[in-house]
Amino acid sequence: MTESLSRRHFLHAAGAGAASVWIPRTVHGYTEAEVRKMAFNERVEEGISKWDLDTPCLVVDLDRLEGNLDHMQTTLAGNGVASRPHAKTHKCPAIARLQMATGSVGICTAKISEAEVMFEHGIEQILMTTVNVTPRKIRRAMHLKKWCAGFIQAVDTAANARDLSAAAAEAGVVADIVVDVDPGGHRSGITAGAPALELAQLVDTLPGLRLRGMLCYDGGAQHVMGFAERRTRALSSLEDAAETHVQMQRAGLDNGIFSGGGTGTYNIDHETPGLTDVQVGSYVFMDAQYLSIGGADNPDAYDDFEPALTVMTTVLNAQYEGRATTDAGAKANTINKPWPIIAGETDITYTSGSDEYGSIRYGANASRTYAVGDKLELIVSHCDPVVNLYDQMYGVRGDTVEVIWPVAGRGKSV
Ligand SMILES: Cc1ncc(COP(=O)(O)O)c(C=O)c1O
Repeated sequence: MTESLSRRHFLHAAGAGAASVWIPRTVHGYTEAEVRKMAFNERVEEGISKWDLDTPCLVVDLDRLEGNLDHMQTTLAGNGVASRPHAKTHKCPAIARLQMATGSVGICTAKISEAEVMFEHGIEQILMTTVNVTPRKIRRAMHLKKWCAGFIQAVDTAANARDLSAAAAEAGVVADIVVDVDPGGHRSGITAGAPALELAQLVDTLPGLRLRGMLCYDGGAQHVMGFAERRTRALSSLEDAAETHVQMQRAGLDNGIFSGGGTGTYNIDHETPGLTDVQVGSYVFMDAQYLSIGGADNPDAYDDFEPALTVMTTVLNAQYEGRATTDAGAKANTINKPWPIIAGETDITYTSGSDEYGSIRYGANASRTYAVGDKLELIVSHCDPVVNLYDQMYGVRGDTVEVIWPVAGRGKSV
């Protein structure tokens, strides 16, 4: 059976509809019907400027996105590790396809629904980094495995491994499994050393499962301020996992995958012995949270990757001294901190604490002031949850809209 045929069968069997259809929202000066006519296969032929888009809306700078993909791929390849980017960041099959086309060995997903969407849109290599513990989710994972040979699932308890094995046998599949090892934060994963090794041995013996290796992700290490401090934390928190990886080898177990790391530690993770691939997510877009952590070459700003993701917003009220109000509040930006940054301006702060309104405050040296109807562009606070607020993102080259990418995984939090 060809891969595309197996995907069609999966869609049919899952009761899913056709691949998502682009439904545009009203764009400034254009009706929805007019904009729909401008896009063919996600590409916009007419020269629409991002400044003409109705707001709030989500924009990705394609040159920056491509530069970020390239820098990550080049660096990881130079360091002898692969990329397995986390699609929880972009939830966008078009970006996942770009990542695969530029050399990633697969993608990660956080949720089974995200994994289903990525498979429906042509991604064949998927590592789900979160455990599935309820009978329904386990059945969905086994159903996905039936059609998606490259689906791999994390496990962190013996009971869950047994449940998965039974469900796999019932579905007539052998499920590929990685053992999730806790880096010490106790959020997820099993304790490194003997407990993780025993679980790996159990997975290896259960009839419905096939052991593929392990993962260990230290989320807390990613945003540690300062490169040296981050390096110390990242390497020490994965030390026990690296030892477990060696023990798996000695025990004759398949340890071919040792996945971990992220955007904050991408140029550190290869120093963990045995690590095979880095689960980088935010690097494609970057955000205000990452900009502040400092890099290996620049302690003041993490500028290894360029901020590519922005929210466009319009000024609604400018009649009061020292401030202005926009149409992009918490529902367009979330309430994550640090607050969004106004691109290209200085000494102007932006807050998105209220549901519908964003708030601008001018400092003494503000680079400009705004009038009603003016538009501005915000570097997002934290990319993952912001993306999850939008049905589509506009890909721009310079100021011109080039593509409209559905965020097909938007709201896929199950
Ligand atoms: C398990 C896992 N791996 C990788 C990532 C990617 O992290 P980052 O966006 O910092 O690259 C995340 C993000 O939270 C994650 O939860």
